[in-house]
Amino acid sequence: MGAEIINGKELSKSLKGKMKKEVSILKDKGLIPHLTVVLVGDNPASKSYVSGKEKASREVGISSEIIHLENSIAEKDLLEVIDKLNKDKNVHGILVQLPLPEHIQEQHVIEAINPAKDVDGFHPINIGRMMTGQDTFLPCTPYGIITMLKSKNIPMEGRHAVIIGRSNIVGKPIGQMLLNEHATVTYCHSRTPNLKEHTTKADILIVAIGKANVITADYIKEDTVVIDVGINRLDNGKLTGDVHFEEVERKAAYLTPVPRGVGPMTITMLLENTIKAAKGLTN
Ligand code: GUN
Repeated sequence: MGAEIINGKELSKSLKGKMKKEVSILKDKGLIPHLTVVLVGDNPASKSYVSGKEKASREVGISSEIIHLENSIAEKDLLEVIDKLNKDKNVHGILVQLPLPEHIQEQHVIEAINPAKDVDGFHPINIGRMMTGQDTFLPCTPYGIITMLKSKNIPMEGRHAVIIGRSNIVGKPIGQMLLNEHATVTYCHSRTPNLKEHTTKADILIVAIGKANVITADYIKEDTVVIDVGINRLDNGKLTGDVHFEEVERKAAYLTPVPRGVGPMTITMLLENTIKAAKGLTN
């Protein structure tokens, strides 16, 4: 029997339906959640992600705005824009789309955002809160992955989760969040020798490599839960994950597809964080 597919698009739809109702209740009370997205430069992928975020906000009734800045903007001018947004009471969530141009230090920008408006969950204060198991804004992609696992009642406690990738946005935080769910966690990355030795021991395998179709059936044992975070565009224009879908589907217990997997969940969790920011649950 093939793997059960965890469809992120469908789950997003159902979560957005619930959020729409919540936002409508907040609006009746005079509170309109507002997200400001800052886009620097003309990176086509970033532009497309940002317009996806705007569209999804609209769907649930969140007001959103994109501030589009020139690629050449000086770091201090960008920090000034953020300072204004921090002080604006009508702005509940601030997201600066990454990557930024090379002359700007991303960490300076991330740390300039008021942690109470940091709907990306990238500020060191919010990362610290996540690590110590406190209520905070969780980074959207890992938060989406945990939500997908919970939607299928997949147990995490006591299970061996193996993560391939150690980025600040996905790999590191998903490991911490799985640890918070009482999983045993192994991190692998580009310098891990004998990757297969680790991945074949995984009950839950999180793949965030950034290369198409690397994880084939021989990388997993029977009945693994496989989460594919990769989004790669092939020469023929087709989108594909880091996991070889057809092979792994025959062996895994659960598998997320690409597209319609983790991607839509990332945006959905951003909306959830924006509503949370508007309600002022974290400061
Ligand atoms: N670039 C790629 N993913 C993300 C994300 O989750 N947030 C931001 N701000 N930039 C990104």
